[in-house]
Amino acid sequence: MYDIQKVRDDFPILSRQVYGKKLVYLDNSATTQKPREVVDAIAGEYYSVNANVHRGVHFLSQKATELHEEARRVVAEYIGAPSPSDIVFTRGATEGLNLVAATFGEAFMKEGDEVIVSEMEHHSNIVPWQLLADRKGIKIRVIPISDEGELMMDEYERLFNSRTRIVSVTHISNVLGTVNPVKRLAEIAHAHGVPILIDGAQSAPHTRINVQEMDCDFYAFSGHKVYGPTGIGVLYGKAEWLDRLPPYQGGGEMIKNVHFSHTEYEDAPLKFEAGTPDYVGTHALAVALEYVQKLGLENIESYEHSLLTYATERLKAIPGMRIYGEAPDKAAVISFTVGKIHPLDLGTLLDRFGIAIRTGHHCAQPLMERMGVQSMARASFALYNTSGEIDTLCDAIERVRHMF
Ligand code: ALA
Repeated sequence: MYDIQKVRDDFPILSRQVYGKKLVYLDNSATTQKPREVVDAIAGEYYSVNANVHRGVHFLSQKATELHEEARRVVAEYIGAPSPSDIVFTRGATEGLNLVAATFGEAFMKEGDEVIVSEMEHHSNIVPWQLLADRKGIKIRVIPISDEGELMMDEYERLFNSRTRIVSVTHISNVLGTVNPVKRLAEIAHAHGVPILIDGAQSAPHTRINVQEMDCDFYAFSGHKVYGPTGIGVLYGKAEWLDRLPPYQGGGEMIKNVHFSHTEYEDAPLKFEAGTPDYVGTHALAVALEYVQKLGLENIESYEHSLLTYATERLKAIPGMRIYGEAPDKAAVISFTVGKIHPLDLGTLLDRFGIAIRTGHHCAQPLMERMGVQSMARASFALYNTSGEIDTLCDAIERVRHMF
């Protein structure tokens, strides 16, 4: 276990006040706060290293390129990828998912072919496939979930047929917290001869990832949810797939040479990285991942699990409380409603107590439909939250309940 007060001291924003109240930040599935060293890394690079990467022979360009490529190595190590060249930098998990849908769809799917997703997907793992459906006439098949919020694995197996081309499923639900059995999902996909893309936006910050053990073909995550900066993300792909996929966007960086008659593309990962990359973001992301590794993912996971257990117990004691997602394997995300109080009213009033939670459809409207609601409130926890903050949340919900 780590020293929670020391950890909190690493995050300057946590000591600020909101409406004269101590900030209680419980919207970590939306984005996490940044440790001082990540913010310092951003400023430090702009203060003393800034230059465009992969282009200059001059000192600064070479230094910036070294930091950028070192970040690729750190990311590869963080997710257990065989090589830094399997790491494509993107703007975030959303862009990684769009990249695969667009390029895989372009190269390997035609009208009537099918992708399997699940009922608990974030919009970013639904809409890219719908765009492809509009362009190419592919079909989207959906794995249903149980009332507890688990994938129905028998139904998953039944969805495969001769037109199935790819599976694309979230590792951890941003609403239910369900941890999906990704290794088993991959085994089944591979037994049917198709690759699997994992949306890791909610898993990369909370649990040790090893893409080789998972045996996924693609894994996408966002920097800002793992204590890094906004606007940077990662797509891992098995080399055999990255080699076969066509480029995503055209521009500088992604070419070997260009003529009006023809163009020769770079090898992966540069083939997918048109334009000046967010090289300050990649460096700061590496600093964030190193910070997480320093604390230890096993420590983080078990600490967050203790927060989940405590918060579930305390929330359940509140009259009218309904929690959505009760899978035995669950991350520290709790979505809920309280009696007839509208989640938006609840969120707005909790905000006045200095408590930040998310309310709404959580970018997962099909899942809301499945659970029979239009919106939920959600408290999502990170490595710096405390049981005291959970007490503050529960006491404030009780006060709101009495107001109604
Ligand atoms: N995907 C983010 C969330 O769940 C934005 O809040």
